[in-house]
Amino acid sequence: MAHLLVIDSSPAGEASVSRRLTAGFVQTWRAAHPGGTVTRRDLAAAPLPHLDGDTIAAFFTPADARSAAQRDRVAASDAVIAELRAADTIVLGVPMHNFGVPSTLKAWIDHAARAGETFRYTEAGPVGLLTGKKVFVLAARGGDYGAGAPAAAMNFVDPYLKAVLGFLGLADVTFVAAEGVATAGAETALAGAAARLEQALAA
Ligand SMILES: Cc1cc2nc3c(=O)[nH]c(=O)nc-3n(C[C@H](O)[C@H](O)[C@H](O)COP(=O)(O)O)c2cc1C
Repeated sequence: MAHLLVIDSSPAGEASVSRRLTAGFVQTWRAAHPGGTVTRRDLAAAPLPHLDGDTIAAFFTPADARSAAQRDRVAASDAVIAELRAADTIVLGVPMHNFGVPSTLKAWIDHAARAGETFRYTEAGPVGLLTGKKVFVLAARGGDYGAGAPAAAMNFVDPYLKAVLGFLGLADVTFVAAEGVATAGAETALAGAAARLEQALAA
């Protein structure tokens, strides 16, 4: 059965543009997949902890050798990874914060990227293990970072996500952004993004 994982990271609540994009995506996806199931993770409402030394040590301790405290340390990451494995489509709502992803989304990535679980090292280099899934990155930014825009080189959101998702085996990623929320206005930025998303979904 089709299963969609929705990750929102905007702290802007009802005013969030990226949340409007992910909500629209879910509506379209549900219509196309009657009987499909949806899991949501809201990183603004329930942020994951930053990785500390004890958590990293627990990650690198074999599962059958972990103490009870170490099992607790790994539990959040295990849940994040289980959600990723269960999904065949993943949608990320991504506000641009200071030219990059929100720190809550970075923390989620740090819990998702685990050697032996979501990637592994081979003689030929690292291999991502989350294969066969589609990812949609629905971004919102105050300025315009679209192709050809003067600020395009300052967009560290898309290249970073492309690299880290690809590292985990998530190579089929569609990027759609509401560009110029602050300059063109939220409604204009949203309309442009909605049209580009519709095109991408029809392709
Ligand atoms: C903390 C913070 C940092 C931001 N940094 C940038 C930035 O570097 N470049 C930009 O174009 N817009 C920036 N913005 C504007 C947001 O990208 C814009 O408001 C966007 O709509 C956020 O997505 P959201 O509406 O889903 O929260 C920033 C906003 C906040 C709150």
